Amino acid sequence: MSEKIIGAAKPRIDGPQKLTGRAKYSSDNNLPGMVYAYGVFSTIARGEITNIDTRVAKQSPGVIDIFHHNHFPKLYHTPSSMAQENKVDEVRLPFEDNKVYYAGQFVALVVADTFENARAAAYKVKVDYQKSAAIANLDQAVERNGSKMQKKSNHTRGNPEEAYGNAAKTIDATYYTPVETHNPMEMHATVAAWNDGKLTMYDTTQGVVNARNVYAKVFGLSPDRVEVLTPFLGSGFGSKLWPWPNAIAAAAAAREIGRPVQLVVPRQEMFTTTGHRPETRQRMRLGTDDAGRLVSLRHETIYTTSTVDQVDTYVESCGKMTQGLYSCDNLSVTHAAARTNRGTPTSMRAPGAAPGMFALESAMDEMAEQLGMDPLEFRRRNVSDTDESKGLPWSSNQIREAYDQAAERFGWAKRNPAIGSMREGNEIIGWGMASCNWEAIRRPCDARVSLRADGSAFASCATQDIGTGTYTIVAQAVSDVTGVPLEKIEVELGDSSYPSGPISGGSWATATTLPAIAAAGRKAIEVLKEYATSENGAFPDAKPEDLTFEDGQLKNTDGKSIGFAEVLKARQLASADGEAHTEGAPTETYAFRSFGAHFVEVRWDPGISNLRVSRVVSAIDVGRAINALTSRNQVEGAIVMGIGMARFEQTDYDHRDARPVNNNYAEYLVPVHADQPDVDVILLDYPDFKFNEFGARGIGEIGITGIPAAIANAVYHATGKRIRDLPITMDKLMDASASVKQA
Ligand code: MOS
Repeated sequence: MSEKIIGAAKPRIDGPQKLTGRAKYSSDNNLPGMVYAYGVFSTIARGEITNIDTRVAKQSPGVIDIFHHNHFPKLYHTPSSMAQENKVDEVRLPFEDNKVYYAGQFVALVVADTFENARAAAYKVKVDYQKSAAIANLDQAVERNGSKMQKKSNHTRGNPEEAYGNAAKTIDATYYTPVETHNPMEMHATVAAWNDGKLTMYDTTQGVVNARNVYAKVFGLSPDRVEVLTPFLGSGFGSKLWPWPNAIAAAAAAREIGRPVQLVVPRQEMFTTTGHRPETRQRMRLGTDDAGRLVSLRHETIYTTSTVDQVDTYVESCGKMTQGLYSCDNLSVTHAAARTNRGTPTSMRAPGAAPGMFALESAMDEMAEQLGMDPLEFRRRNVSDTDESKGLPWSSNQIREAYDQAAERFGWAKRNPAIGSMREGNEIIGWGMASCNWEAIRRPCDARVSLRADGSAFASCATQDIGTGTYTIVAQAVSDVTGVPLEKIEVELGDSSYPSGPISGGSWATATTLPAIAAAGRKAIEVLKEYATSENGAFPDAKPEDLTFEDGQLKNTDGKSIGFAEVLKARQLASADGEAHTEGAPTETYAFRSFGAHFVEVRWDPGISNLRVSRVVSAIDVGRAINALTSRNQVEGAIVMGIGMARFEQTDYDHRDARPVNNNYAEYLVPVHADQPDVDVILLDYPDFKFNEFGARGIGEIGITGIPAAIANAVYHATGKRIRDLPITMDKLMDASASVKQA
């Protein structure tokens, strides 16, 4: 493996296309005869549609048709299996019946000649409802209907209750995280077109293969009759993993009308009908011995889900990291779902772990304080050298090194543990830290690589680049195996007709795709050797096994060396093609996770109650980073998103009618440049060859885990206020101003 290209700091190869506007996103497709659809969205959160009056809307200019539950084709349900790759978040189809499960649900769809005409007519559709009392939040849900235990996601070992009773020190604290809404720049969009019974979907999806299979199931087609194209994505953060009703509605409308249909989900309805990170309430009970070793650990989560369908089984698995990160003989994690009249929740960057690590790492900080122990030392004492939940060794775990390097770079040794003791001018400085943790997953994958007669190489895989740099790292892997320079490598992703590849999710696209690319590259080289050693080939007297391949050259035992382009030209062949299938990771032998640590400085001005995150130092152990630029970019982005989670993000629902009230970019706050601290990311370089030949475990999600806790811990250090409910808004610190000023 050439060290030059794997790990190199290479800018995105698709950068020029994006910068010049040549990169076509889903809604950039303007097909001949295309018409536009716009939704009519429910204004109530629970009840039934009693009447839909479309008479006035139909008279509106340009209207072609208006679909609703009394006027829509009958479609099929998908089994919605992640293993079979036909998963959706809502099994219920759009316009299936007159029931309303959440505000912002599609209740009708207007199709017109222009976007403006479709939207204008949508406002004229008159919908009457019979309204029932909606469940707006977790508290209301639990109070009225309790919660349902998700037994498959729970884990118990030892006797945590008894061990807690015998512990020297205990913590019993409950943490709360609100609904967060995915706000990728690019809104969910589809252009659906039918030709001779074949469906083409230009679609915003993080998984073209899964989406293809879903549409095939829903329309009762063989998968070869469906093609999903997603060459570019303006991110998704999990909201585009599995298709939502909008895409199915667009495809159905296009078939009924007989013209291509474009449907974009308005930003407001991305707060209702395309998923969110659910609300959680997490009770943590920790017990230690006198030496600060965990003897009991319980993590009980209740999270919100929707009422849409009993088949919906999304679990916000907050306890997943808890069950293995620290060593503890007596441990239990549980997850229970409480149903609200909101849209169905789904994965959002580090699902489960992002809220779960907020609770765990806050509770660890509270326990360290009770023990009178440095929070870093407390974690060192408890990190686990094996995955005790699985009884397996880690493939590689460098968390101790992450603690050391980040603490050193941050200057943690200079921390005065006394609350509010570190001051500079008007500001009180708070220092906090937390571990970070995310699972590493690698799935089966297919890929194709060609060496071409013009000296270039080509690679394709039905995965997609969500914006993270997948095109670039695939090219790096091709270059690594074939010796072809990056600028002569063409990569095609985002087409379901290519060899089957992974979703852009779970931080597993890199670890999954690259081994298949490398294997396909090696196959192409074998094919090239066959071509070279035929009677009319470049090495007619050699056997394939005599030839070696290095840096684009085939070399014989006698030292004669010929470039692959010449080898192909000698036989007038366009290319040597290799296709390969690779398997997933050996999960029976090892437990695979990535690890790390965040150290955070906050500055708080008690006079004006102003809080800002001023500095972050993180050391991350993800095995090998394939691209020094894009990998650092992922961790930095995740840290910023973690700052958003800690300080700003929350979707507010009116408690009376369960409607989101801050469903727009003005009122749903995310970090802006002024909120940006100095971020220093250390990427540890311990390639995990037990995971794959590149030693790469994936990097998209881990950075967000632990950040909210590290910030909350720093806020506590500065202010003496332990914030257990996110986000940490100013009002929650108002009374702290008084107490610290007097101190
Ligand atoms: Mo990620 S939440 O798996 O897109």
